[in-house]
Amino acid sequence: MTNAPNFELRQQDAVAFLLGLPDESVDLLVTDPAYESLEKHRAVGTTTRLKQSDGSSNPWFSVFPNARFGELFTEVYRVLKRDTHFYLMCDPETAFIAKPIAEQAGFKFWKPLVWDKGSIGMGYHYRARYEFVLFFEKGKRKLADLGIADVFNIPRIRGGYPAEKPAALSEILIKQSSDEGALVVDPFMGSGSTGVAALGLGRLFLGNDVAGTSLEHARRRLLELGGSEAELLAPAAHVRGQMQLALG
Ligand SMILES: C[S@@+](CC[C@H](N)C(=O)[O-])C[C@H]1O[C@@H](n2cnc3c(N)ncnc32)[C@H](O)[C@@H]1O
Repeated sequence: MTNAPNFELRQQDAVAFLLGLPDESVDLLVTDPAYESLEKHRAVGTTTRLKQSDGSSNPWFSVFPNARFGELFTEVYRVLKRDTHFYLMCDPETAFIAKPIAEQAGFKFWKPLVWDKGSIGMGYHYRARYEFVLFFEKGKRKLADLGIADVFNIPRIRGGYPAEKPAALSEILIKQSSDEGALVVDPFMGSGSTGVAALGLGRLFLGNDVAGTSLEHARRRLLELGGSEAELLAPAAHVRGQMQLALG
């Protein structure tokens, strides 16, 4: 890995983070929001507990409400360059809600890809063995390998960051939809799995999460990989304007 800066991490609400990025500045966006239906699973006591941190009274990670998908996807669409892809990891229930909202924002929806975790999770009926990755396109972009199937068999991560995804899952998506040196963004990065995959493949990574625990976790992983942190993207023009106004 080179010593050139190859990642940057920010701690903001995902939409505020995206609002701060310039138009058409991102080559690929891969993300895995804390979707609302997780609350339903939590309510029956089956899932996703964040270890309580010293500074927090909340033992879960906060949920991103479905009602905010409109503003989220509008910003994702704006920051992506022309002819790019957007991958949204989610459960099947959230897929039905997210798909039309992302189409409304301008994306072409191609299909749900299936992540088969190879073993069942907790639950009471038809216990979950798969999740979806929704495959969206802005403009037109060819996949790197047209021979890849739409089902990925990758074992789930046990005992990691809550709802941690295997970096191998993001690796497939990043290889398929970006070139070396591309800027890959994840506004809900959690443990930074997308960043791990991006750096391993010679891409740049700009990650964000509202939780400090996530930043600590992701930064440690990316530095261990030999990554080097610095500002990768200057703020959008309107944000620079606001900063100048504030400074008088
Ligand atoms: C499902 S986890 C992501 C897991 C990640 N893909 C991984 O492999 O570790 C969702 C993340 O969204 C974060 N989150 C929740 N609400 C957010 C918001 N409004 N803005 C940014 N991040 C948020 C949570 O702190 C959590 O880390």
